[in-house]
Amino acid sequence: MAAPDARPSSAGPPPARSLLLPLLLVLLLAAYSLPADSAARPSSNSNPRPAFTPPLLKRHQLRRPSSSSAELVAGPANASTKPFTAHYFPQLLDHFAFTPNASTVFRHKYLLNDTFWRRPGAGAGDDGPGPLFVYTGNEGDIEWFATNTGFMFDIAPTFGALLVFIEHRFYGESKPFGNDSYRSAETLGYLTSTQALADFAVVIRGLKRDLGAEAAPVVVFGGSYGGMLASWFRLKYPHVAIGALASSAPILQFDHITPWSSFYDAVSQDFKSESSNCFGVIRAAWDVLDERGATDKGLLDLSKLFRACKTVKYAYSIRNWLWTAFTYTAMVDYPTPANFLENLPAYPVKEVVHLSAKVNLDSSSTDHEAFA
Ligand SMILES: *[C@@H]1O[C@H](CO)[C@@H](O)[C@H](O)[C@H]1NC(C)=O
Ligand SMILES: *[C@@H]1O[C@H](CO)[C@@H](O)[C@H](O)[C@H]1NC(C)=O
Ligand SMILES: *[C@@H]1O[C@H](CO)[C@@H](O)[C@H](O)[C@H]1NC(C)=O
Ligand SMILES: *[C@@H]1O[C@H](CO)[C@@H](O)[C@H](O)[C@H]1NC(C)=O
Repeated sequence: MAAPDARPSSAGPPPARSLLLPLLLVLLLAAYSLPADSAARPSSNSNPRPAFTPPLLKRHQLRRPSSSSAELVAGPANASTKPFTAHYFPQLLDHFAFTPNASTVFRHKYLLNDTFWRRPGAGAGDDGPGPLFVYTGNEGDIEWFATNTGFMFDIAPTFGALLVFIEHRFYGESKPFGNDSYRSAETLGYLTSTQALADFAVVIRGLKRDLGAEAAPVVVFGGSYGGMLASWFRLKYPHVAIGALASSAPILQFDHITPWSSFYDAVSQDFKSESSNCFGVIRAAWDVLDERGATDKGLLDLSKLFRACKTVKYAYSIRNWLWTAFTYTAMVDYPTPANFLENLPAYPVKEVVHLSAKVNLDSSSTDHEAFA
């Protein structure tokens, strides 16, 4: 799910359809819960970030889990019924230096669920303590990941596992310098995956010591960047974790290893595999947007079509909004209704295709101009 910083590619539109596209896009977007005014701005927040921030980074930083953020996700997630307890660990700011300030600590948050855990000494047999299943937190509030990682809760009873979710430094409540954490290179210098992995190792070992569970095996889990962290953790700390499960983790998505287009190839494939017609329509949309966006009149028309609260200044704003919709839909094309990045039904890509098919039916008999 680590979308590279790139834009949708565009290709020539099939000319006959191009006037229909705005309507189609409006219909498609009706399926999303994005605020209507976000068309007027590159993103729905006021942070001055580049328009094409990788999606997860953008969303996770902004979003705190709320009671509503999880109502469609299986399992309890209400504020009052969170399936975990929060804890804080005095974490070393710098694991790799020996300067006086390297001993600075910050409050590092982690979550626990011990409901299913086979505690040390609890089992009558020789099984020993149940394992620790540890989520290596990625770029966001850890409660949000815990709420959206049902798999670990699903398998914990079978393994008698203790569930641990560790927050990534500089996110959620684990900001070493509070609100000043992002202020300068001096503070941000401590935000590295290398430091984060060391954090995880320290928390896990401290926890096992405190629980008298030093014999308990540890398996790390993660999704997306968190999955990369899980796999790196297993490689770098093989004495701490016996295994890693990395889900949707682009561990090989680096220059000269994986083609730069691989992320968008996968997004495209998601739509193409549902409907090549829908894929073609979406693909053609980018040029139409640019074409319309080239004139003031076109921008006004686009603003009306997309029901922006203000006239959009650049077609790019709408492009960015659409890009988010298509990309997020593909990234969270789950088989169940979910509310991870957006509130979406089951198989959201199918849903989008379904909407586009309706438009095409209409198109065969309707004056194209009427839609424009
Ligand atoms: C969820 O939270 C709301 C508001 O705090 C509360 O009214 C509701 O009863 C809660 N639901 C459950 C299942 O706990
Ligand atoms: C652990 O998770 C299970 C399943 O969601 C839940 O029923 C239980 O209350 C949770 N335990 C704690 C201590 O939060
Ligand atoms: C070390 O910490 C002290 C006290 O927090 C601070 O005033 C000083 O600037 C820090 N020095 C460096 C090199 O970070
Ligand atoms: C940090 O920022 C948040 C959100 O703007 C605010 O609620 C909080 O009070 C701030 N904390 C401090 C210590 O200034």
